[in-house]
Amino acid sequence: MTEPSQRFLRALKRLPVDRTPVWMMRQAGRYLPEYRAQRAQAGDFMSLCKNTDFATEVTLQPLRRYSLDAAILFSDILTIPDAMGLGLSFVAGEGPVFAHKISSLADVQALPKLDITVDLDYVVNAVRSIRSALNEQVPLIGFSGSPWTLATYMIEGGSSKDHAQSKAMIYAQPELMQQLLAKLEEAVADYLHQQVLAGAQALQIFDSWGGSLSHAAYLDYSLAPMQRIIASLRARPGLQDLPIIVFTKGGGQWLAPMAEIGADALGLDWTTDLGQARAQVGDRVALQGNMDPAVLLGSPAAIRAEVGRILASYGSGPGHVFNLGHGITPQVDPEHARVFIDSVIELSPAYHQA
Ligand code: CP3
Repeated sequence: MTEPSQRFLRALKRLPVDRTPVWMMRQAGRYLPEYRAQRAQAGDFMSLCKNTDFATEVTLQPLRRYSLDAAILFSDILTIPDAMGLGLSFVAGEGPVFAHKISSLADVQALPKLDITVDLDYVVNAVRSIRSALNEQVPLIGFSGSPWTLATYMIEGGSSKDHAQSKAMIYAQPELMQQLLAKLEEAVADYLHQQVLAGAQALQIFDSWGGSLSHAAYLDYSLAPMQRIIASLRARPGLQDLPIIVFTKGGGQWLAPMAEIGADALGLDWTTDLGQARAQVGDRVALQGNMDPAVLLGSPAAIRAEVGRILASYGSGPGHVFNLGHGITPQVDPEHARVFIDSVIELSPAYHQA
């Protein structure tokens, strides 16, 4: 049997395991009644993130319920722009909203260089507290948004369907966009480094909006900054072999270039066929994903069948971390999440026989 605390980390390095490890993006969240109760006690989402004990508690909640193979830091990708002074708030029903937006050279130049241990001390403290509370049961994932994804929120002032202003900046003011991305690159690299120093054992970069770019723009404005971040991290003491996952939502057509940026694993959304993706990336990277979270709204039998289909699509051998293709949604019945996780545990050993 694979040591449970090693299953996820071994799979990211494409080493043999006894079964496919599984975790869920947004596994701590509103579909859990205990999460909603904790958030009500905290008052709002950012207060939940900023209180070390609360952040630790909600990180552990899904692990108490399910046999998950990894924990993920409870925080958000928008902590960096908030720390840079943009004034983040979460408006009920609207998602994140920034008090200040980025549109000019003066705006970009005014963004401060972050000292992570001071400006984002609450995140570093949460990582340290969670790692200690986990007691080596399962590994802890740290994370950040990609520079492009963070830039879209900073330019649009919140969520956006088409990222029109961000894309306009690419084509109307490419140097300004590169300056903004360069500032974010530095902050993201330092942020991820401090998470590792505080105890994160793997890192995931969420490139949630890379998929809204053209092929050429994706390579220059989303992938290249992530590649530079990974290179910067790899050059730091102790980080050479740290497992790094890159998740570009909607990135299925870019797997070949993504496999070359120094990441250990690529996250896939549900629009990509896992078996075809494996054939494309070969032995260069592990793959993470990729069940449509909407499947969790179906029957237990349908969930189990879809888990079986995805396992068969990947086929035998190591290098697969089971996950959803995007975050679990608030409407999901927690018992359906259990069926998902238990199905991976029951059905996957057949794909890992020596
Ligand atoms: O995965 C986890 O359990 C760890 C925690 C985590 C959260 N956000 C908590 C959260 C992680 C890894 C994120 C990442 C994140 N945040 C992303 C990248 C992943 C993705 O979904 O593409 C993005 C784009 C954000 C920005 C963000 N945060 C939005 C757009 C929203 C509002 C929309 C929504 O889902 O409510 C958030 C809020 C947020 N972040 C919640 C949680 C649990 C819900 C807040 C609440 O309790 O009301």
